[in-house]
Amino acid sequence: MQLAPSHVLITGATSGIGLAVARRFIAAGFKVIAWDLVAPTEIETSWSRVDVSDPESVKSASSSLPPLYAVITCAGVSARGSLVDLGYEDFQRVISVNLAGTANTAIATFEALAQGKGTLITIGSITAVNGFHHRAGYSASKAAVVALTRCLGNEWAEYGIRAICVSPGFVNSPMSEEGIKNGLTNYEGIIKHTPMRTLIEPEALADSIFALTGPDFRRTTGVNILIDAGWDSLSGVV
Ligand SMILES: NC(=O)c1ccc[n+]([C@@H]2O[C@H](COP(=O)([O-])OP(=O)(O)OC[C@H]3O[C@@H](n4cnc5c(N)ncnc54)[C@H](O)[C@@H]3O)[C@@H](O)[C@H]2O)c1
Repeated sequence: MQLAPSHVLITGATSGIGLAVARRFIAAGFKVIAWDLVAPTEIETSWSRVDVSDPESVKSASSSLPPLYAVITCAGVSARGSLVDLGYEDFQRVISVNLAGTANTAIATFEALAQGKGTLITIGSITAVNGFHHRAGYSASKAAVVALTRCLGNEWAEYGIRAICVSPGFVNSPMSEEGIKNGLTNYEGIIKHTPMRTLIEPEALADSIFALTGPDFRRTTGVNILIDAGWDSLSGVV
């Protein structure tokens, strides 16, 4: 009998969503391979310093991967401001980390995922499917992550790999905390627009992601799943 793979690879595992996801898998007995610019200090992982936006960095870290149960691409950056004010460089940065970083990771882990008949979970956002003020580059990068994942769900089915994009609402992570602290994110406005009146806890998101990689979702692939406390369902209050 072939044993199920015991390794998961998580990008951005040092902070926020990626850290919560790593904790969830470790609690279930998995070994975590962490790819991040910064080493995780709060959890035990096998860490490589990887810049996901750099194909060479990703390629060299992937040279001896074990069969993978799942890859979860949580590495990402935000960009807040008007497209024109942020300019060319910022647009390139957000596309190279969020979009190219996800594609680079998918390419580099394909063989290990195929060996493990694993699941790729990418991280989109509600900004991928809604218009948002001052988030043009970020939203575009996330919309493209949704499209990329839907294609991979199709392309990789024959290899036994599922690909699912998880699009969170506003998550209570360092990325959001920074926006709330510097006044770029309107906390009260978010809560007012969210039917469940809460930010998403990273742990709640991690539980959902963990479940999506499991057998209960074995026939789910190529989809974008919103985990947003109801944000997307509300187009207005009258
Ligand atoms: N926080 C939210 O409200 C929210 C909502 C929707 C989607 N997201 C997405 O979820 C993902 C995780 O966000 P978070 O809130 O946990 O952010 P975070 O800032 O807490 O964590 C991001 C992690 O990615 C790592 N990282 C950044 N650039 C990298 C690179 N080039 N190579 C490797 N690692 C890199 C950072 O070191 C950090 O550990 C991002 O893609 C973000 O866009 C966040």
